[in-house]
Amino acid sequence: MNFWPLPALLTWAAAWAVYALGSKSLPWWLAFVLAGALGCLASLGGRTWWRRVMIAGGFPLSFVALSASVLPGWAWLLPLGLLLLVYPLNAWRDAPVFPTPLHALDGLAETIALPPRAAVLDAGCGMGDGLKALRQAFPQARLHGLEWSWPLRWLCALRCPWARVRRADIWLADWSGYQLVYLFQRPESMGRAAVKAATEMQPGSWLVSLDFALPGVGPSFELPGVGRHRVWVYAMPLGGPDEGLQAPGPHRP
Ligand SMILES: C[S@@+](CC[C@H](N)C(=O)[O-])C[C@H]1O[C@@H](n2cnc3c(N)ncnc32)[C@H](O)[C@@H]1O
Repeated sequence: MNFWPLPALLTWAAAWAVYALGSKSLPWWLAFVLAGALGCLASLGGRTWWRRVMIAGGFPLSFVALSASVLPGWAWLLPLGLLLLVYPLNAWRDAPVFPTPLHALDGLAETIALPPRAAVLDAGCGMGDGLKALRQAFPQARLHGLEWSWPLRWLCALRCPWARVRRADIWLADWSGYQLVYLFQRPESMGRAAVKAATEMQPGSWLVSLDFALPGVGPSFELPGVGRHRVWVYAMPLGGPDEGLQAPGPHRP
């Protein structure tokens, strides 16, 4: 978002307007939840975590400050509840919402040959930025997204109407039907991803990870990506005769 802090000020004003209008016909706490949800959704567009916290936190903080004397004790839990709604704890543990830059996967299609209607999964699709980057790289592919947080899943489906977006746990979902699985998670999740890919993904399919390499497995090749980002690409089967378990380095299939 540009013109900082205008987005924060506009969001706070909009949240207060939603609260003022909503509390005329709804219970005050429901109007508060709606206004807070607006702030949380708007915060997803913030460039940095500090900005997101400020955009989302402005309304509940000012609300609490203004009504501290009249609020029941449990009302202090509402802002936390809102945050958990957008971002359930297990999704936070696996990876916070950091979007894939639009051009991060440029060049991938020159190195991976996918069949025209290949099924491609963004595992943990967040707001849909990874799906947009995948679409840019593979316009012919059938794109799927799985996301644990309900609000993010809805937002993603809105932003990516051409993709099939579902709410699911990526670790419980079956990856065997996808020709390419894309991940932008956390370093700590990559061991689990390696085991899942090795046991479920079909020979000839691909695992692509932004920024975080699989531990103990050499990539088939890596792309520079944009900015500080790197793209790690693994051909299945992992550790097959020609792939994996080798020193990292460029390799074309
Ligand atoms: C770093 S963000 C990446 C979002 C998107 N893939 C992109 O690149 O723009 C990671 C996303 O994974 C989701 N996530 C984390 N653990 C998950 C799980 N177990 N099941 C489904 N989604 C998960 C988080 O909610 C978050 O939206």
